[in-house]
Amino acid sequence: MHAKFAGVGHFVPERVVTNHDLASLMDTTDSWIVERTGISERRFVREGQGTSEMGEQAARAAMKMAGVTPSDLDFIIFATLSPDYMFPGCGVLLQNRLGCATIGALDVRTQCTGFIYGLAVADAFIRMGMYKRILLVGAETQSMGLDLTTRGRDIAVIFGDGAGAAVLVPSEDDGPGVMETILHSEGSHAKELWMEVPTCLVPTTRTPELVAEGRHFPQMNGREVFRHATRRFVEAVDEVLERVGKTRDDVDLIVPHQANKRISDAVGERLGIPPARIVQNVQRFGNTTAASIPIALSEALQEGRVQPGHLLVLVAFGSGFTWGASAVRW
Ligand code: UT7
Repeated sequence: MHAKFAGVGHFVPERVVTNHDLASLMDTTDSWIVERTGISERRFVREGQGTSEMGEQAARAAMKMAGVTPSDLDFIIFATLSPDYMFPGCGVLLQNRLGCATIGALDVRTQCTGFIYGLAVADAFIRMGMYKRILLVGAETQSMGLDLTTRGRDIAVIFGDGAGAAVLVPSEDDGPGVMETILHSEGSHAKELWMEVPTCLVPTTRTPELVAEGRHFPQMNGREVFRHATRRFVEAVDEVLERVGKTRDDVDLIVPHQANKRISDAVGERLGIPPARIVQNVQRFGNTTAASIPIALSEALQEGRVQPGHLLVLVAFGSGFTWGASAVRW
């Protein structure tokens, strides 16, 4: 047995924030953002909406497609870097929102790679026979944590809010589902893309000092992240394909984490995989970290780009650094 996708769904907040909107808040332009990232617009939550609420909406859409109700679920995995609270995590908040039984709820903290790590855990639990219907959610509220002034413009223009979810169920070994997942990390690069505050390294009473220094905003060494991302995306695709005895030509669709259109274009070029076989929706949603793969997969399904028998590679790279890929037979 292994895990297959019984349902996939997504949710994005109503409020569309265009590059022109950002240009009225900071020293940037639509052309700079489009040229460097491919992004034209993104969604921002309304205040108080938050990650667990968006996760619930995406989860309900995925459950509808799977034909299951909250009481059918036996485990929840929730990937996010922007939880409603420092603790408890969004997993338990989602369990409560859905009103399901007192099933286990696990939070995953591997940023842009969160959905791939979560998928690996779900697949392993299903292979073990431990659970049969796992809800996997990636949801992110970036907008509330961004520095929407010129000081934060390198990061603020990239990120957006949204959620995606999947219901994973058992499938026969030779049937559709997750074939292999590979996972990596390299913590020596932790501070190339990080958020320092809130921190438990100093007493909370010192938080106002750190906030006054702007250390509660995410920080990124964009060029370094870009350089590593393009290399690791390609390596991860090749590694997972080798594990399942397939080649780049066998892949019907790559569903990459939506970091930057230039990164996905460069990866496609290096792999020799044409744009028609790479999902790109960063133009409309920006980078939604853990939510980006399930949102992209959900849209690709709605557009009919994923058909039974297709070989998909889901692949991500991000803060940590963490990266990974999953080969999935649909
Ligand atoms: O999920 C993983 C998450 N992160 C990523 O994938 C990000 C990877 N990195 C990137 O996508 C790119 O590095 C960025 C889009 C962040 C930046 O593009 P870049 O081509 O690497 O630009 P840069 O950082 O080298 O900056 C070029 C110039 C700088 O000005 P100077 O020093 O040349 O005068 C920046 O200050 O562009 C300036 N700049 C901006 N200008 C207008 C930085 N951000 C902006 C902005 N608008 N928003």
